[in-house]
Amino acid sequence: MNNIILIGFMGTGKTTIGKILHKKLQIPFIDMDSKIIEYTGKPINKIFEDEGELYFRKLERELTKQLIQQNNQIISTGGGIVLNQDNINDFMESGLVICLCASIETIIKRLKNDESRPLLLGNKIKKIEDLLNDREHLYGKIPIKIETDNISPQEIASIIIKHYEQIKR
Ligand code: S3P
Repeated sequence: MNNIILIGFMGTGKTTIGKILHKKLQIPFIDMDSKIIEYTGKPINKIFEDEGELYFRKLERELTKQLIQQNNQIISTGGGIVLNQDNINDFMESGLVICLCASIETIIKRLKNDESRPLLLGNKIKKIEDLLNDREHLYGKIPIKIETDNISPQEIASIIIKHYEQIKR
C-alpha cells in the first residue's frame, strides 16, 4: 500500500506538510479532522463539548478503517490518533507512516493563539506539557520521525518524498 500517513502532536505541522506533499506528488490529501467536521457538521470543539472525547475517538477509529481501504493518498491525522494502537497498526499496514516532532517550546509558540483545540482550553502550557508527557511513548513507537524545529516545511516534504520513493520501488 502506498499511502503517506502523517502523525504527531498538535502543532507539529501535519496539515501544512500534507498540503505541500499534495501539491508536489499530485495525489489526494485527506485531513482527518476536516473529514470529521464535514461528517458531523460541527467544529471539533463543539463535538468534544456536546458528545465528549470518547465519541470523537470513535469517529477517528471509524474514519481510519475507511481510509485504509484506499491507496495513494496523503492522510493527516489528529494528534490523538496514537491513543488507539489499532489505528497505528492499520496505518502501518497501509503505507508510509511518518511522525512529525517538535520541541515543547516550538509547540507552545505555534499554538499560542489557537483556540480551536478543545484539549488545550484553559492553562494551555500546562495542558501541552501534560499531554506530551502522557503521549511521548506512543509517538516514540513510530519508526520514522522527523524533527520540525529548525527546518522548513518544504524541506520536510522533500525528506518524506525520499522515504516515499524508497517504499514505492
Ligand atoms: C487532538 C488533536 C487535534 C484534534 C483534536 C484532538 C489531540 O488535531 O484531532 O483537537 O488529541 O491531540 P491536530 O493534531 O491536527 O491539532
